[in-house]
Amino acid sequence: MSEDIGRNGLLARVEEFIGCDLHEADEIYLRELESAHPYVSDILKHVTHFRGKRLRPMLLLLSAAATGDINSNHKVLGAVVEMIHTATLVHDDVLDEAATRRHVATVNSRWNNETSVLFGDYLFTHAFHLASSLESTVACRLIGRATNIVCEGELAQVHERGNIDLTEDSYLKIIDYKTAELCAVCCRLGAYFSNADPAIVESLESYGRSLGMAFQIADDLLDILGNETETGKSLGTDWEKQKLTLPLIRLLSTADESERPRIRELLSQPSQESWTALSEMLAGSDAIEYSYNRATGFAADALRHLECTPMSTARQLLEEIVEFAAQRTF
Ligand code: IPE
Ligand code: IPE
Ligand code: MG
Ligand code: MG
Repeated sequence: MSEDIGRNGLLARVEEFIGCDLHEADEIYLRELESAHPYVSDILKHVTHFRGKRLRPMLLLLSAAATGDINSNHKVLGAVVEMIHTATLVHDDVLDEAATRRHVATVNSRWNNETSVLFGDYLFTHAFHLASSLESTVACRLIGRATNIVCEGELAQVHERGNIDLTEDSYLKIIDYKTAELCAVCCRLGAYFSNADPAIVESLESYGRSLGMAFQIADDLLDILGNETETGKSLGTDWEKQKLTLPLIRLLSTADESERPRIRELLSQPSQESWTALSEMLAGSDAIEYSYNRATGFAADALRHLECTPMSTARQLLEEIVEFAAQRTF
């Protein structure tokens, strides 16, 4: 991993630049979720002790700083979007039967699925409760709409499980819904609550969406090529759960007519042997490179959408986050 974009590089520099605001968002997050119930507080302790990258609050706060000044609304909203994101992860780990998240046991493996479903709900409801504390109702509405779309994306993905004929367009639509939408709304909220011009708010939203697309394609590559120690989460679950992602879609769509029946058979029978065979086929095809190029293409779109903002440290960091998203190793 390049140190420039790794844990000690870019994300640390972002933390340095907006450190106090990020820290306040963290405190709001913890205060909102506090519970006197020992069972809930135990789960909270486990989940909040091991934090993720906090990419969504970073996007929100940097979008605010790139288009105006960070204010108290942004900090509350930073906590809100991280709660929504964490809720989707807690639920996602049930769907994927994942054992590890953020370097520790998932809620489903340490407790159980029922607890995960309810704890995910707890995070969602607290997010909306917190968002409703803002004077303006705009945030609640925007976050509500974005979360509707995220949930629709997850439902579409469940519906498409096992569909070997999933097209690239359908895949892109799913990741737009399940991942890019939340990144987009983070940037929109940051700019909107900085009182940026409507055209700039739109551009920032488009930046977040393109970035989110690159981020998820890179994540889907990590699911195949990544290292569990470095990512801190269970990998290989897309394949195990029959969720077709870009590399496999590309492999199938570019294979010779004569190879297709074999690939289709391997895709429909997840096992260690079929995975070994598919990995060899992936290595001998352009599927991995093609997927990286698609991620890089979305990253380039994201950079273009930033051009309407003046040069500043915040913009510079938003630009670097694009590179991180497309090439990340964790
Ligand atoms: C993981 O998101 C889920 C995806 C959308 C790929 P992150 O990689 O941002 O997860 P954390 O918050 O850092 O754990
Ligand atoms: C992202 O998909 C999940 C959500 C947007 C909720 P993944 O299933 O790829 O996320 P990871 O890899 O488990 O973090
Ligand atoms: Mg998952
Ligand atoms: Mg993944």
